[in-house]
Amino acid sequence: MTVTDGAPFHLRGNYAPVFNEVSSDALEVRGSIPVELDGRYLRNGANPITGESAHWFLGDGMVHGVRLREGRADWYRNRWVRTPFYDNPTKPVIDLDNLDFSSENSKANTHVVHHAGRILCLEEGHVPWEISEELETIGPHSFAGRLDGSFTAHPKICPLTGEMLAFGYGFLPPAYLTFLRVSAEGELVQQQNIEIPAPVMMHDFNITASRVVFMDLPVVFDFEIAVTGGMPFSFQRDNGARLGVMEREAGATDVQWLDIDPCYVFHPVNSYDVDGRVIIDVARYPNMWEAGSTEFDAKANLWRWEIDTVAGLVTETQLDDRPIEFGRIADDRVGLKYRFGYAVGSKGDSSDPEAGTIVKYDFDTGNSLAWDFGKGQDPGEFVFVNRPGSTDEDDGWLMGYVYDRSRDGSALLILDAADPGSEPVAEVVLPQRVPFGFHGSWISA
Ligand SMILES: [Fe+2]
Repeated sequence: MTVTDGAPFHLRGNYAPVFNEVSSDALEVRGSIPVELDGRYLRNGANPITGESAHWFLGDGMVHGVRLREGRADWYRNRWVRTPFYDNPTKPVIDLDNLDFSSENSKANTHVVHHAGRILCLEEGHVPWEISEELETIGPHSFAGRLDGSFTAHPKICPLTGEMLAFGYGFLPPAYLTFLRVSAEGELVQQQNIEIPAPVMMHDFNITASRVVFMDLPVVFDFEIAVTGGMPFSFQRDNGARLGVMEREAGATDVQWLDIDPCYVFHPVNSYDVDGRVIIDVARYPNMWEAGSTEFDAKANLWRWEIDTVAGLVTETQLDDRPIEFGRIADDRVGLKYRFGYAVGSKGDSSDPEAGTIVKYDFDTGNSLAWDFGKGQDPGEFVFVNRPGSTDEDDGWLMGYVYDRSRDGSALLILDAADPGSEPVAEVVLPQRVPFGFHGSWISA
């Protein structure tokens, strides 16, 4: 399909959708796949069935996966999640006559996570959708009917307790924000309304060993835009911005709100307790969708928020000036003191302004180093995978999809996380391009 130059960015180039569901078990591999890697790399993204969507975030969820085992790439496959939009693609994404956030009308397009034996495709406005290890749709998952509203695309699985902590947000008071706790066994055991002044887009949140921290940032829901069918959020500086700190213990209800400078954050990198304070590292935008724009005009940089809950103050410090997004860490450091973070960074090369790199941040030394895949190579989010039995935090691999503009194709790249800038350990050439998407997970077998 040829998309005209006039199309919005999310329908052009490697943002444009693919239309074939492929299963391939004959994959070319360059280098050698580490034999310790036994599992699936799955990544979700928006891939509109009709070829069109009003915004990058509103396309239909498609998961692209690669199965690795015994040093081989057993298969690549891609599947749409069979949500109600699969059979009825012109259904409105937001039905203003029925703002039911516990409905199954999810695009299921933002993330794919594994918890308590289920693989869940997540989008922040509705209930999760479950898929099989072969990426076939199983169905909506509302935690045995207990989930009363939406479920974030960015739950946090606590490495200490195995719980999946999450939240939902909605547009109708008083349920603008609800804290959710899923036990290690997969049972929804806590749903608790949290008061915030206005309905805002809350894309992600933070946990530490003892607390959760919500980000009430001024990308505010706007009914007037919603009725036009457009992206119903805009930056409203007057709403202010605040972080809400709540103890994690079951039954805690007090939230301490601390003002910060208005900004937007889709994705934190990580957060943790230290000496009674809370450290949160984020990809921070100075604004998002301000003055009528729905484009991604602003760029995010790495910032650190240091919360002093006793003094009631947040210290905000920019740590790096290169644009970054999609920060990831080792899954077993979520909410804990950590040393290494990884993100997609801008190369800052004027001859190839769109090209990306994978940046490794060392928070102990303040250093950062990057993998550059060469001209015309565009990486998406990379996830970190531990080497089994490893003790060093960065002993493992980074993996993600890289789009090669010259051949209009994609590959799964596996990098040695301990050796920034080194040649890929392995490259699995895929039978079709993988459109730029959102988030993924390594799901160990
Ligand atoms: Fe996200």
